[in-house]
Amino acid sequence: MIYIVWVIKMIFGIITVSDRCFRGECEDKSGPVIAECLKELSEKNEYLLVPDEKTLIMGVITELADNRKADVIFTTGGTGFAPRDITPEATKEVIEKEVPGISEAIRAKSLEITDRAMLSRAISGIRGKTLIINLPGSPKAVRESIGVVLPILEHAVETISGNTQSCGGKYGK
Ligand code: MTE
Repeated sequence: MIYIVWVIKMIFGIITVSDRCFRGECEDKSGPVIAECLKELSEKNEYLLVPDEKTLIMGVITELADNRKADVIFTTGGTGFAPRDITPEATKEVIEKEVPGISEAIRAKSLEITDRAMLSRAISGIRGKTLIINLPGSPKAVRESIGVVLPILEHAVETISGNTQSCGGKYGK
């Protein structure tokens, strides 16, 4: 028997949100970890680094979604309790539909690793044809979180673009 596996290649937006990296006080390690985890699925990655400023975060999400046509945007950082952490609030302003299940799944899996997972206020949602997913900021947290969503990304992108034929088919686990 011959199996033909068709993998959709996607355009990813990667946004690192960090005052310190933006000021050049430290190197961004989390954005590259996201890119590395996505390399099998990615046609192209767009990478941006912004400080923890709500309007700037909103601006780069809308730029990647509306103009650069990203299929999926991952943000990393700014989801916690620190005074300047504002990524979920910025994301909420620009999404049209919230997708709680993705962030719930990330937190549930992460809680098997660390109790501190409950300190991430990350959200996920859809803007136009783009899925936006907040991840926590550390490279360790990124690795642990992104693995949870990789198996559903292809189907998520298909359904956002209107193709629901494969629901319950090869993805039916
Ligand atoms: N999730 C996973 N999987 N692994 C982690 O190490 N760290 C937590 C949490 N989520 C962590 C995690 C911690 S310590 C914090 S403070 C929050 O993410 C928020 O992180 P952020 O402010 O860098 O976004």
